Amino acid sequence: MIEQQIKETVRDVMDFPKPGIVFKDITPILKNQELCTQIIDAFVERLSGLEFDAIAGIESRGFLFGLMLANRLNKPFIPIRKAGKLPYKTVKQSYNLEYGSATIEMHEDAFEPGTKILIHDDLLATGGTVEATSLLIQKMKGEIAGFSFIISLDFLKGKDLIKPYADKVVALAEY
Ligand code: PRP
Ligand code: MG
Repeated sequence: MIEQQIKETVRDVMDFPKPGIVFKDITPILKNQELCTQIIDAFVERLSGLEFDAIAGIESRGFLFGLMLANRLNKPFIPIRKAGKLPYKTVKQSYNLEYGSATIEMHEDAFEPGTKILIHDDLLATGGTVEATSLLIQKMKGEIAGFSFIISLDFLKGKDLIKPYADKVVALAEY
C-alpha cells in the first residue's frame, strides 16, 4: 500500500529546524524512482473525476511532485514562491507563522480568471501556507478545485483550516 511505503521511506529528523520539531524528510523518496512513479500514479487515481485546469505548487518541496503530476496530467504548472524570487509582476499574500510572518507570491499572469486550480504541496502541517495560497488564487479570481499532499500531519488540524476553500483533499500518508 502506498501509505505504508511512504511512511517506511520518509525519514524523521529530530529537532529540525528547531528544538521539539520532528521533521518529515522526503528526500529518501526522491532516491526511489519506482516509489516516485507510484506516488504520481496514486495521485492520478485519487484525483480522477475532479475537474481542474492547472496545478499550483508551493516552493520549494511542492515543486518536486507538483510538476511531475502536472506533466503526467498534461496540465500547466504554476509556481507559488517565497517573496522576492519571481522576476515578473507579482501578487502577494502574507500569512502568520508560529513566530512572525511570511509572504508568498505568484506572477500576476499565472492564469486566466475562472481557471480551476489544484493546489499541491509535499506536506500539510498547520495549513497556513496552503490557506495563503488559496487566498492568493482567489484574489486573482481563480477557482480552487482541491488540494493534494504526500503527507498530512492530521494532528495539527490543517485540513480544518483549508476545507472551507475546497472539499477535495487528497493526502497519501496521514499521521
Ligand atoms: C513546509 C512544507 C509545507 C509547509 C507546511 O515548507 O513543505 O510547504 O511547511 O506548513 P504549514 O501547513 O504549517 O503552513 P517549508 O516552509 O519548510 O519550506 P520548503 O518547502 O521550502 O522546505
Ligand atoms: Mg514547503
